[in-house]
Amino acid sequence: VENRQDFKVADLSLAEFGRKEITLAEHEMPGLMAIRKEYADAQPLAGARVTGSLHMTVQTAVLIETLVALGAEVRWASCNIFSTQDHAAAAIAVGPNGTPDDPQGVPVFAWKGETLEEYWWCTEQALTWPNSPTGGPNMILDDGGDATLLVHKGVEYEKAGKVPALETAESDEHRVILQLLHRTLGENAQKWTQLASEIRGVTEETTTGVHRLYEMQREGSLLFPAINVNDAVTKSKFDNKYGCRHSLIDGINRATDVLIGGKTAVVCGYGDVGKGCAESLRGQGARVIVTEIDPICALQAAMDGYQVTTLDEVIDKADIFVTTTGNKDIIMASDMAKMKHQAIVGNIGHFDNEIDMAGLAKVPGIVKDEVKPQVHTWTFPDGKKIIVLSEGRLLNLGNATGHPSFVMSNSFADQTLAQIELFTKPDEYPVGVYTLPKHLDEKVARLHLDALGVKLTKLRPEQAAYIGVEVDGPFKSDHYRY
Ligand code: NAI
Repeated sequence: VENRQDFKVADLSLAEFGRKEITLAEHEMPGLMAIRKEYADAQPLAGARVTGSLHMTVQTAVLIETLVALGAEVRWASCNIFSTQDHAAAAIAVGPNGTPDDPQGVPVFAWKGETLEEYWWCTEQALTWPNSPTGGPNMILDDGGDATLLVHKGVEYEKAGKVPALETAESDEHRVILQLLHRTLGENAQKWTQLASEIRGVTEETTTGVHRLYEMQREGSLLFPAINVNDAVTKSKFDNKYGCRHSLIDGINRATDVLIGGKTAVVCGYGDVGKGCAESLRGQGARVIVTEIDPICALQAAMDGYQVTTLDEVIDKADIFVTTTGNKDIIMASDMAKMKHQAIVGNIGHFDNEIDMAGLAKVPGIVKDEVKPQVHTWTFPDGKKIIVLSEGRLLNLGNATGHPSFVMSNSFADQTLAQIELFTKPDEYPVGVYTLPKHLDEKVARLHLDALGVKLTKLRPEQAAYIGVEVDGPFKSDHYRY
């Protein structure tokens, strides 16, 4: 009898609500549902043990059940302490055929509002497979690279025979990771080495995780092949942009319900996420100001009609600040000290180091007060308050429910096809970082046209020959930028 209690979620009684929302989402995720149908007989993921570390939302539930429908076994954790939707997690644990008294779903370790210790424990649980020859997965599906990081750090320290001392930790989170690895090294000095030995690859969802992968590739420490899902066109040019266009203001509205129209909003960074965020705020009637370090993106922002200037110039004038850079130290405590009373500060980039929360907490005499979960005021000694969303973590998932189903259907169709690629064609992907072949990118877009009533023009053979492509694509060269 398998261990049916192999999961940890907030409240199994939410499963029925979760299942209802999953059913509604399925209709909005035509890409994933078409892939389920197409591969139902072939079962390309039979034998795959997929560890997922990705926001445990309703949309992710549809992804998980797609992987299972293609033959995979799955274990899951969220990739952020605030992003889990507890009803989605409950429905995944219970499964479509189980009940809260008899859960039969996928082992999932995720709830909204984890501590950092709990977060890394959940990641370890998702990576630990009770009935596997290596004790681990043979595939990772990652968002931000935390599951991949834990395996790589584990292997590195096992090779060295020791884990760095806790005093060397650069942050609270780093200390938690070191603590975990000290424990596993004591329990089994080969845990991560064994576990990594059968991993065929990782498919990575987001810009920040992709940066980490290329870095490991450069320094020669990457242990297995990786597909950079983020840079599929149907991912970053849709999810990062149109997804954030939807979910940024959703987060701000649910958190504060402040009228955005007429306010001055600053968007730091004008990459894919920044473009969606700026449009989102402008759509509400805000006056949007952009900051950038890259002259190309700065010029784009200017031509899109935004004022582009430095944070210093506008720090005491704007009402809403959003960081979208994937970089660190964008808004410092000294900046927040200069903001207007009740200025709203939030981050939508992957990690919480864009806003200097540690520095803010250290301002002498500052008082933090919880308005409601994930919404805090910070009052400076002079009485001025600012409002910080999701403690500096990605606010669209912390204060709202992340991106809606239709856009995630694109990203997750890319994820599923990337999993199939790496799992079924190990010989074609030696250790390295790859993007999805363009024909698969175009396929994912195609799967979403009917639902929007799009009628595509068919290329005639003479026309195809004239522009040098095949009638059925790929239609663009690999360096085309869209
Ligand atoms: P990107 O690389 O396209 O854009 C980031 C932009 O920030 C670049 O144009 C860069 O020049 C600019 N930048 C860097 N340092 C800066 C600084 N000091 N000041 C001003 N601008 C600066 O990356 P993308 O795809 O837009 O992703 C940004 C972040 O958002 C990443 O951490 C990514 O993982 C995350 N992300 C979050 C999502 C969400 O739902 N919350 C969805 C997709 C991505």
